[in-house]
Amino acid sequence: MPREIITIQAGQCGNQIGARFWEQLCREHGISPDGTFSPTTNTSTNVVDRKEVFFYQADDTRYVPRTLLLDLEPRVINSTALESPYARIYNPENVYMSADGSGAGNIFACGYSAAAKMADTLLDMLDREADGSDSLEGFMLLHSIAGGTGSGMGSFLLEQIHDRYPKKLIQTYSVFPSSSQVSDVVVQPYNSMLTLRRLAEYADSVVVLDNGALGNITAEALRVQSPTFDQTNQLVASVMSASTSTLRYPGYMHNDLACILASLVPFPRLHFLSTAYTPFSADVLDANPSGGSFAVRKTTVLDIMRRLLQPKNRMVSGSVSRQSRYVALLNIIQGEDIDPTDVHKALLRIRERNLAPFIPSTPASLQISLTRRSPYIPTSKSRVSGLSLANHTSITSVFKRTMDQFDKLYRRHAFLDQYRKEEMFSDGLGEFDEAREVVNGVVEEYKALEPLGE
Ligand code: GTP
Repeated sequence: MPREIITIQAGQCGNQIGARFWEQLCREHGISPDGTFSPTTNTSTNVVDRKEVFFYQADDTRYVPRTLLLDLEPRVINSTALESPYARIYNPENVYMSADGSGAGNIFACGYSAAAKMADTLLDMLDREADGSDSLEGFMLLHSIAGGTGSGMGSFLLEQIHDRYPKKLIQTYSVFPSSSQVSDVVVQPYNSMLTLRRLAEYADSVVVLDNGALGNITAEALRVQSPTFDQTNQLVASVMSASTSTLRYPGYMHNDLACILASLVPFPRLHFLSTAYTPFSADVLDANPSGGSFAVRKTTVLDIMRRLLQPKNRMVSGSVSRQSRYVALLNIIQGEDIDPTDVHKALLRIRERNLAPFIPSTPASLQISLTRRSPYIPTSKSRVSGLSLANHTSITSVFKRTMDQFDKLYRRHAFLDQYRKEEMFSDGLGEFDEAREVVNGVVEEYKALEPLGE
């Protein structure tokens, strides 16, 4: 029985990434932009895939994504989903766009209060979608932590889902602001801190995507100086597609989210994952694997696993210190006819060379999952590709960066007027202090796992 997952896309970033993700999943499952099953490549009839995890079939057999599109302004949902070639796949009942259309003005508290005011509508949508699944496994939130809607409304929903569906899993794909660019919104650290607290307390796993690292990887692959969001979002869609591939094309292991998280999250609060994806070339970004540039590498399983361990391929630009260690690591290797002996040899080589040092307190947990590629899209030039999901103590450098930026603003009580106006701050600023304490607690818990410095 498929274990269904309901996606929630909140705010500009969540909806822009969501639109790319659904386009990618449709291509990978032979679903055309109007939702009909009409594969364009010659495939054998007995393809085993589990479309039902992410789609259901309407009365007329068209496939409909199990997703909610939420925003406090109509512009983004209209342009990325409802006026796109894929407009007909979405269930119009699952779209919420605020009527006054002004957004949350980059203020977490506004996004949170707006969501609280229309809680009945949102929860109704959520419950209806949940009732439509046979064996719901959990929820997947796509959002940015730095604006107002994805952070505030996203946080409100995390709290509600945690309360209402305590046995279901919650995974988020959370876009963190870039460290290298000057912040486009001055109150980003406030929004990030308040959201991080909810991610720590209510999510079962958080895939951290850092806009700085995403930008660098995309720029290198496309050889452009400043990639657009559309280009970086294609990278995110590829990562999301690869990390859900074992759920959609089941093999022997990691066939549901619970299995994946059991191997990656040995300590419940330490559930922040970073990803790496390789080979990441223009053909992946174009979603046109058969055309474009020449292959310059021969990809073997060992190459892929080595590259997945290189910091430059990670989608988080945190600093790795001598004490940083893996808590757990899962490599998902995609390709046809991969010889398990190659995988075994690659694992041995990585262990011999100590290329992936683990925390000393638990047994090293480098896991591999082999999965097929979609039979519905033309074969990629690379024979093998890989995605890693890593629970690594260096994620604390990203939190520390947020804490430093937060402290600088908060010390001066700068730009707090808009927050104070909302109910959650009517009794004072305690929310901020509590959030910082929770985030600091996560950092300390990760640090306690690292070996002591020499
Ligand atoms: P309001 O605009 O306040 O209503 O909230 P929002 O949640 O819609 O804001 P948004 O999603 O725009 O969040 C701002 C943060 O998200 C900034 O750090 C942006 O750089 C980043 N961001 C916005 N859109 C995208 C996108 O499509 N892709 C990526 N990777 N980042 C985005």
